[in-house]
Amino acid sequence: MMSIIKRIKRFGNTLSLRFRQPMRVEFNLSDACNLNCKGCSHYSPLAPKEFEGLPRLAESMSAIASIEGARKISDIYLIGGETLLYPELTKAMELARKYFPWAKISIFTNGLLLPKMSDDFWEKCRVHDMVITITRYPVNFDYDALGPLCESKRVKYEIFDDRSLEHSFFKFRLDPQKRQNKWVRHFKCYSFGCLTVIDDKIFPCAQSACVTNFNKAFGTDYKWEKGDYIPVQSLKNVKQLFRLRNLPVPFCGYCKPIITTPYALSKRVKEEWLD
Ligand SMILES: C[S@@+](CC[C@H](N)C(=O)[O-])C[C@H]1O[C@@H](n2cnc3c(N)ncnc32)[C@H](O)[C@@H]1O
Ligand code: SF4
Ligand code: SF4
Repeated sequence: MMSIIKRIKRFGNTLSLRFRQPMRVEFNLSDACNLNCKGCSHYSPLAPKEFEGLPRLAESMSAIASIEGARKISDIYLIGGETLLYPELTKAMELARKYFPWAKISIFTNGLLLPKMSDDFWEKCRVHDMVITITRYPVNFDYDALGPLCESKRVKYEIFDDRSLEHSFFKFRLDPQKRQNKWVRHFKCYSFGCLTVIDDKIFPCAQSACVTNFNKAFGTDYKWEKGDYIPVQSLKNVKQLFRLRNLPVPFCGYCKPIITTPYALSKRVKEEWLD
């Protein structure tokens, strides 16, 4: 059995590795999606086809870029739902680059629409130095063609993950009674670091940010409490973002341990997120 000292050391190492992770902010453009994966962390299969307005996106980006220490934010994601469905994506890229000129900016995508994107899209990706970040899924689609496509357009790309691999898809289970130990759940959180901006708020993760999709679909009442998010316009410094990321929030009490599940398409039933 592992000695107490070894356990304490391992605990300390895990914490220090996590706290030293680069700061990343994810701007949620929409939860609408063209794929609908079972148990999606954004509850996208349940989401209405709505898109964030550009003026509010600009306000949020401007506010976050102006906080003290903003240059510690090294990574920006444009994310969804399916990001390529966002009707004003090139304008969103322009805004992201304008407000975060120092950052690595990634467009997260399931890739399905990439072969159909316009010349203007590819040009703006080059001009604004975007990284196309692709998740592969076990669906009938030629993912191997996407790398050569991005290369032919001279646009950077990365494969984020492959959801056909064993143990690569999860059931993020919510506890309606909120009886989970928030410190333990946060310490073991798979979504650590996924600070998500939605509407005019910033949350530590997509699960808490997007839970309204779940509540609206099934009449449940997963609530936000004080501390679960920060209104973007009230942010003053990057230390607040580090605290939001590094410490548990009340919502963590809803998060049961995740379990792996084979990838499948959603049937839009609540059991995909509940026991
Ligand atoms: C919510 S998606 C949004 C961007 C885009 N639609 C995509 O799939 O890449 C962002 C990432 O979260 C991952 N994700 C969402 N729900 C998940 C789950 N239940 N288990 C594992 N990964 C999940 C996706 O596979 C993807 O890599
Ligand atoms: S994981 Fe990505 S592709 Fe799958 S439903 Fe969610 S947003 Fe869509
Ligand atoms: S609520 Fe807490 S434990 Fe749950 S996913 Fe978000 S940060 Fe992780």
